[in-house]
Amino acid sequence: MDPNVRPETMERITTPELAQAFIDEQIAAVKEQVGDRKVLLALSGGVDSSVVAALLIKAIGDQLVCVHVNHGLLRKGEPEQVIQVFQEELGANLIYVDAVDRFLDKLAGVDDPETKRKIIGKEFIDVFAEEAGKLDGIEFLGQGTIYPDILESDGVKAHHNVGGLPEDLQFELVEPVKLLYKDEVRVVGKQLGLPDNMVYRQPFPGPGLGVRCVGAITRDRLEAVREADAIVREEIGKMDPVPWQYFVAIPDVKSTGIKDGKRHMGWAAVVRAINTVDAVTAQSVEIPWEMLCRIRDRIIAEVPGVNRVLWDVSDKPTSTIEWE
Ligand code: XMP
Repeated sequence: MDPNVRPETMERITTPELAQAFIDEQIAAVKEQVGDRKVLLALSGGVDSSVVAALLIKAIGDQLVCVHVNHGLLRKGEPEQVIQVFQEELGANLIYVDAVDRFLDKLAGVDDPETKRKIIGKEFIDVFAEEAGKLDGIEFLGQGTIYPDILESDGVKAHHNVGGLPEDLQFELVEPVKLLYKDEVRVVGKQLGLPDNMVYRQPFPGPGLGVRCVGAITRDRLEAVREADAIVREEIGKMDPVPWQYFVAIPDVKSTGIKDGKRHMGWAAVVRAINTVDAVTAQSVEIPWEMLCRIRDRIIAEVPGVNRVLWDVSDKPTSTIEWE
């Protein structure tokens, strides 16, 4: 039987009971695979790696070493939440790497989207490999591979994820959720006690806010993207149903604004909300006018440097979901 093929008899995990049975089964399987040896896991704070971390903590406790790399392109509050949930609440063996300067220095002046992605991917590998090199006795690499990753290995995600993990890190893989679909991973995460805002999180690109700070990334515009994104997540998060993905991009363009009777130049924050099934096509979602006005008022009042708010109503195709 091919371990990368989901058996037809495998029941879809839709209830807490089925999730618990899956968790118990995987704990036993991981214990069997790993024994008393050590596993290293890159913990981004996304759904898949978070669920794998929580599962492995249950299975092997301190034999799991999690590495959280803060590349400076994460959303507001994300690194703090990873530390809070995994180190403080679940007692994980967590190494937090503040690599913000390193990433932003490498990205300075680079405006080509694919070059930006390559730099972020390569730097991530380098930082992770450096951390791995400092540790003794690691024999396994934990990974949040899920079934669509296996099925669509040349799909959207693979196309974007130029990085991947280093081949010279010759570790055996531990991939406990590799036969699960995303909705099942969420049910398992919920059963493992992870917070809702982690389990039901919208998709977030690997290069993070880097592709939403359109053009060459500067620290001030990146901060503006992060603050505006937090506002948009809070406000659009109140819609029912919430759109599949919603965020802000700030292109490297300034336009004229007026404040206290004086003209000044500022950025335009672009709000985007879309629905999609598979990210291959996407439809712009209608945001209620009152909500849009509230978003506008909050961004203008709370985000330094922004003097204009736009709503991107484009569908994919022709417009991709992200701005670059
Ligand atoms: P596009 O912009 O191509 O995005 O319509 C389709 C989906 O993929 C996400 N995306 C990425 N995901 N690394 C990722 O892991 C990336 O470099 C990347 N670029 C885009 C995007 O957010 C959307 O959900």
